[in-house]
Amino acid sequence: SSETVSMNLADSIRAIPDYPRPGIVFRDITTLLGDARAFRRAVDELVQPFAGLKIAKIAGIEARGFILGGAVAHQLSAGFVPVRKKGKLPLETLRATYALEYGTDEIEIHRDAVQPGERVLLVDDLIATGGTAEAAVNLLAGLGAEVVAACFIVDLPELGGADKIRRLGVPVRTLVSFG
Ligand code: PRP
Ligand code: ADE
Repeated sequence: SSETVSMNLADSIRAIPDYPRPGIVFRDITTLLGDARAFRRAVDELVQPFAGLKIAKIAGIEARGFILGGAVAHQLSAGFVPVRKKGKLPLETLRATYALEYGTDEIEIHRDAVQPGERVLLVDDLIATGGTAEAAVNLLAGLGAEVVAACFIVDLPELGGADKIRRLGVPVRTLVSFG
């Protein structure tokens, strides 16, 4: 059952208190990634609703979204588009500034990374405040992409990020919630 899947995945994710700042419980997915069965199960569960939906490209958010996004792209036979922290992409970009659970940052996408009307699935490991994902949705929308959905292994629902993305009209799939 999906309940069993979620429980198993939750057990493969570590909680690190007071990292990277006092009061933050960091949800560390490196243990999930290092567990072959958990990694495969997480990718299989993420893609399950999207098989057959003609996803042209996966947009993965640096850095942890690259690991999952690459695997998801392969499984859906889609292309991969990196959404990177500022200053990393060599050609013309769109840039967005956003607030994090801890700090602020800027992300960029190549202007030629997606074509108008292309169906794109956004992938990251975790959604907290949703600031990062909102910025990524705005970049993709700014290029004319159709953002079909956004998917994450971990949701921190008290921070409201998934609801924020749903209010933009983008369906959200998450596999594990930590309160
Ligand atoms: C983490 C996580 C998400 C983002 C979620 O990345 O991988 O991308 O935070 O937070 P939000 O929903 O409040 O925006 P981080 O910015 O720590 O970067 P990293 O993947 O490079 O470590
Ligand atoms: N990104 C934002 N908040 C986070 C958290 N609590 N754990 C891991 N990554 C995060």
